Amino acid sequence: MTSPTDTRRTVVRLLWPGRRSAAALALAILITTVLPLLAPQLTRRFVDDAIAGESAGRLTVLAVGYLGLAVSGQIARMLAAWLASRLAWDGTNRLRESLAAHALGLDMGYHGKRTPGEMIERVDGDVVALADFVVAFLLDVVASLLLLVGVLIVVLAVDVRIGGALLAYCVLIGLFMVRAQRLAVPAATRVRERFAALFGNLEERLAGAEDIRANGAGPHVVRRFHQSSAEVYRADRHAERLGGGLFAGTTVAFAAGTALVLGLAAWTQQSGALSVGTAVLLFQYTQMVRTPFERIIDQIQQYQKALAAVTRIGGLFAERRTMPEPENPRPLPETGPLSLELAGVGFAYADDDERVLADVNLALAPSETLGLVGRTGSGKTTIARMVLRLYDPTEGVVRLGGVDTRDIDLAVLHRRVCVVTQDVQLFAASVRDNLTLFRPGLADDDRLRAVLTEVGLGGWLETLTDGLDTVLGAQGGGVSAGEGQLLAFARAFLTDPGLVVLDEASSRLDPATEQHIETAIGRLLTNRTAVLIAHRLSSLARVDQIAVIDDGRVVEYGPRETLAADPDSRFSRLLVAAGVRRESQVIP
Ligand SMILES: Nc1ncnc2c1ncn2[C@@H]1O[C@H](COP(=O)(O)OP(=O)(O)OP(=O)(O)O)[C@@H](O)[C@H]1O
Ligand SMILES: [Mg+2]
Repeated sequence: MTSPTDTRRTVVRLLWPGRRSAAALALAILITTVLPLLAPQLTRRFVDDAIAGESAGRLTVLAVGYLGLAVSGQIARMLAAWLASRLAWDGTNRLRESLAAHALGLDMGYHGKRTPGEMIERVDGDVVALADFVVAFLLDVVASLLLLVGVLIVVLAVDVRIGGALLAYCVLIGLFMVRAQRLAVPAATRVRERFAALFGNLEERLAGAEDIRANGAGPHVVRRFHQSSAEVYRADRHAERLGGGLFAGTTVAFAAGTALVLGLAAWTQQSGALSVGTAVLLFQYTQMVRTPFERIIDQIQQYQKALAAVTRIGGLFAERRTMPEPENPRPLPETGPLSLELAGVGFAYADDDERVLADVNLALAPSETLGLVGRTGSGKTTIARMVLRLYDPTEGVVRLGGVDTRDIDLAVLHRRVCVVTQDVQLFAASVRDNLTLFRPGLADDDRLRAVLTEVGLGGWLETLTDGLDTVLGAQGGGVSAGEGQLLAFARAFLTDPGLVVLDEASSRLDPATEQHIETAIGRLLTNRTAVLIAHRLSSLARVDQIAVIDDGRVVEYGPRETLAADPDSRFSRLLVAAGVRRESQVIP
């Protein structure tokens, strides 16, 4: 179990930009703070010199100096902002990558319980919240604190009494603003909650629009919508009033502070201890106090959000695989077909869920092929998942090449076993990346072309303007269902697996494409062990054995020829029912 400090350390380690970048950023922030602090010094000179009747030339130099200071202050601030956001994004990208890698490695069971939206929010949303905070923290909190301290020091140096008054005033106003924040935050939270309820309501009603209309529930739904909107309005009005009041209060407080300092300055000036220029200087410094205060207070709320994000990120990092990697993995033959055995396999997707597989016993010698048939939901895909070790069986053993899958290194397993699933996943990427699944070293272009030709996509490749570099649309747009299937076969050829699992698509393909696919399957199965999950019984003509699955159990199992020859077997009856064969016909 990882402790909170461990995860915080992990997060900090990933965010840390390196010593040189950190030093550059610190310097930029320091310059950003020091330059504005110098400006009032110039104004004081200007005022005092003007009163003393100095030459216009000297005054111009001072004015130009002031301008230069203002411009370089802005440039420094821009640089610091650029540097801070670059470093924060670099760091958070590292964090995001390692989170994504971690999440991808988690059990399928973990992912089964979460929607893609939730995972995106956890991997990306929290990291963005953190990145935003890191940038704001460096620019607003650190820079503002430095500025505030700088102002206090300078004012104290100019006049201890006024400095002391300013310090006391800052403490008071700080306390006031923290209190104000405490009042405002719950109101803002309430508004967000009301909005979430309203949208949730709306989404649900829109999704159920057909039922609502059919049942004449429209007026009721509209009344509920009206109520939700009214609650949003009330919450928002409350928050606005509060916010407005607090803003006015803060403005008055700052004005009072300025008046106080000005009054003190005027009094000291009259007693001769202070020049007019210094009074202007003090005025400018007190004006500089407000913005840093506001920025810091704003960030208190962000800080809480970021803290929550770090906790959730830590939670994700703390998730462990329940399917451990073997400590002493046992080797599989590097090449050639693999045997497969399922011995007494039972499985349920979650502890409290119904059993999906019970006492499944199947055995395939190397190069043998097995056809799995059964009604939808009978457990065929689940058996395929056991073979790929996407889940571990709750009972029994799955052996590949005589080795328990739990003792096989996962990378080796995924190299030696390959699956073509019911819904082929294509990516919005080049044909090359879609074939190699983004592994550049997997195969050179000649091999990719050869494989595409082998599965019957040679002609298709020639029609593509950019060849292997052609980017397929998102969700495989521009690729037909049949071409998608063939691309998936090509993927399988590339890794040269010892065992293939084909979870056949149930979608209907045109006869020509079907013929291509049949040919491709024929080639793919040559000298390989295979499990074919077939919806079209016609594609089972090539398999050696048949297992009929019903409700997670093997209800019939044997050589295909024997089962097909026995008119009373379930398989024969299925063939007849599917119209593959007439009642009396005997399969060769
Ligand atoms: N990820 C999952 N989490 C929980 N239950 C699941 C999951 N996947 C499948 N099931 C359930 O397990 C049972 C078997 O499903 P499976 O997908 O193995 O059936 P199948 O034989 O492949 O069906 P089809 O012919 O429709 O592809 C079904 O009752 C299904 O609802
Ligand atoms: Mg299935």
